[in-house]
Amino acid sequence: MTTAHPPVPKAELHLHIEGTLEPELAFALAARNGIALPYASEDELRRAYSFSDLQSFLNLYYALMAVLRTEEDFADLAHAYLARAKEQGVRHAEIFFDPQAHTSRGVPIGTVIEGLGRALDAAQETYGISTRLIMCFLRDESAESALETFEAARPYLDRITAVGLDSAEVGNPPSKFREVYARAREAGLKCVAHAGEEGPPAYVWEALDLLGVDRVDHGVRCMEDPELVARLVAEQIPLTVCPLSNVRLRVIDDLADHPLPAMLDAGLLVTVNSDDPAYFGGYAQDNFTAVRDALGLDEDTLRTLARNSFQASFLDEETRAAYL
Ligand code: HPA
Ligand code: ZN
Repeated sequence: MTTAHPPVPKAELHLHIEGTLEPELAFALAARNGIALPYASEDELRRAYSFSDLQSFLNLYYALMAVLRTEEDFADLAHAYLARAKEQGVRHAEIFFDPQAHTSRGVPIGTVIEGLGRALDAAQETYGISTRLIMCFLRDESAESALETFEAARPYLDRITAVGLDSAEVGNPPSKFREVYARAREAGLKCVAHAGEEGPPAYVWEALDLLGVDRVDHGVRCMEDPELVARLVAEQIPLTVCPLSNVRLRVIDDLADHPLPAMLDAGLLVTVNSDDPAYFGGYAQDNFTAVRDALGLDEDTLRTLARNSFQASFLDEETRAAYL
């Protein structure tokens, strides 16, 4: 594929590695592991990618993960993502993974982390992409399960930069996970959390005040609460917005109505990301192009979004400064 302009260099800060599982790879891994998928073909699987809300997506997302079993599977998944990310101008990727979605199927956490780690260790040299890993807790599982997961990950914490919180938001507020976040901070990890995607602005307040997050994932519903916007602006807390995801999961009706321009105008430190690109119709640059076209963003604004992505990253000060 050739494009007139090379994609703008950017950091990807909101990317679920399990959400990069393309139908082709899902079928290849199913064959390799002797697993039968309930879809006759890749096309039939793709036709199931029509979602009414977050939960309807999560149901398919967790079901398809059954094909991920060995270290090699996780390494292949991450390699496939990195190859795509390189083409999309990604120079740095902070990658979520969901250990409980695998340990609950009998896949040891070490298999997941060592497999992903194998691909990420080669990423700088092979793809010119620096990487970080963010371990997410499933918020629709118990607080105890999150604590057990954190303890199971202790031998691997040198590979993990931050903890995160994802899965079904409404009814599972950040307050449920105070203890595990305190433990993560004590261990020197950064903290992020999905908040204000389907959930109310109150969940964003909780993520800030009770979990001490360094970044908010999604956060688009902050726009309903001017006091919250003022706080996020004053502290320059980054928001990792995912435009194509918001449309596919019906958080926003139409990309042309996305609050991204209003968020930028308000002075929020907004970034554009791809969330689960295999399911939502686009990787990092595809999201940049989509908001440019639907919202009429000019080149300056796109450069600001790219600069914000490095500014909001967990890269060390010196490396970050070199991108700004
Ligand atoms: N929201 C919550 N949980 C998720 C998402 C999301 O967009 N993607 C994968 N897990
Ligand atoms: Zn997400």
